Amino acid sequence: MEFQFASRMDQFQAGIFGVLDQKRREVEATGRKVYNLSIGTPDFQPAPHVMQALCDAAGDPENYKYALTELPELLEAVQNWYRTCYGVELEQDQIMSVYGSQEGLTHIGLAICDPGDVVLVPNPGYPIFEMGPMLCGAKIEYYELRPENGYLPDLDAIDPELARKAKMMVVSYPANPVCVAAPRSFYDKLIAFAKKYHIIIIHDNAYSKIIFDDHESMSFLSVPGAMEVGVEYNSLSKTYNLTGARISFVLGNREIIQKYRTLRSQIDYGIFLPVQKAAIAALNGPQEGVEEQRLAYQARRDALCGGFRSIGWNVPDSQGSMFVWAPIPEGYATSAEFCFDLLEKTGVLCTPGSAFGTLGEGHVRFALTKTPEEIAEIIQVVKAADMF
Ligand SMILES: Cc1ncc(COP(=O)(O)O)c(C=O)c1O
Repeated sequence: MEFQFASRMDQFQAGIFGVLDQKRREVEATGRKVYNLSIGTPDFQPAPHVMQALCDAAGDPENYKYALTELPELLEAVQNWYRTCYGVELEQDQIMSVYGSQEGLTHIGLAICDPGDVVLVPNPGYPIFEMGPMLCGAKIEYYELRPENGYLPDLDAIDPELARKAKMMVVSYPANPVCVAAPRSFYDKLIAFAKKYHIIIIHDNAYSKIIFDDHESMSFLSVPGAMEVGVEYNSLSKTYNLTGARISFVLGNREIIQKYRTLRSQIDYGIFLPVQKAAIAALNGPQEGVEEQRLAYQARRDALCGGFRSIGWNVPDSQGSMFVWAPIPEGYATSAEFCFDLLEKTGVLCTPGSAFGTLGEGHVRFALTKTPEEIAEIIQVVKAADMF
């Protein structure tokens, strides 16, 4: 039987990480060591008290029922956490759980956009920012992130006609893959822009707790006016290493949350209760581990960026996120070509910048998923290959 699949499937090709993984296996099959810095899965672990909370809850048969909604203690924990971390007051109806920001970002467009509505997304940017709205039938328009603007959008340069058409805009700092943080003054401008053109802002705050030097760990919602124009995603994947447990929150504008909740009530029976209990333990429990982890990421950043600079590769220090964004050396036509050459010569695997949009070309991304000792070894291996 011949199947006729949805035409929307025509926009998908094999994901880049599958291709990179195939390359990794090929190199490993030759007996060589591969240093995999391509994917952003944390190698840190959840705190023992968080895993214990999940295990305890998993031992209670009552916790296998549909959760349907958030436990009141979870909403309270999120309220307290936002107050303590960011100075933001939220009512409980301004908080909703999702199965990770990836899932939450995929579906929010269904509640906001009609087919053909314009959504502004960053180029380069994290792929789901465009994929989610695209799946909802929205029309994607890119705003540019360029190094000369500190990888912040030049809002004044966005065509007013386009801005008037835009219904939603996805923004995310500290930014994956470009690794910069945004100052408060940027958010003031963003909110004024959103109000002027009546655009809903979706802010993805996956890395507020992985931020370096004197950059501020902040919430978009702490900026005056933010609650009027948008919502924020805040995932427990990176902050507490609950990556595979799949829990994140969408928070902020009440009307947007309520509309999205109505949609989700048709498709979502609530997060597995043991995962909710783990999240409560993470948010309410001791927070020293979060700061220790931030410093550990910063030490890795120093080892990788500083190490590359010491061998002649001018890689800037990341300001936040668990990545490093490195310009490719001269002599390579594309970031993919450099990425595969680096893998062949050194066993070091990174991600071509082109995977994040046309303006990602010319860069590669490294994940900070190795210890400083392992990174020191990587620097020696790259130095020996004499590519810079
Ligand atoms: C910017 C950004 N947003 C969202 C995610 C996914 O988060 P979650 O695990 O909550 O789906 C990632 C994962 O790398 C990310 O880099």
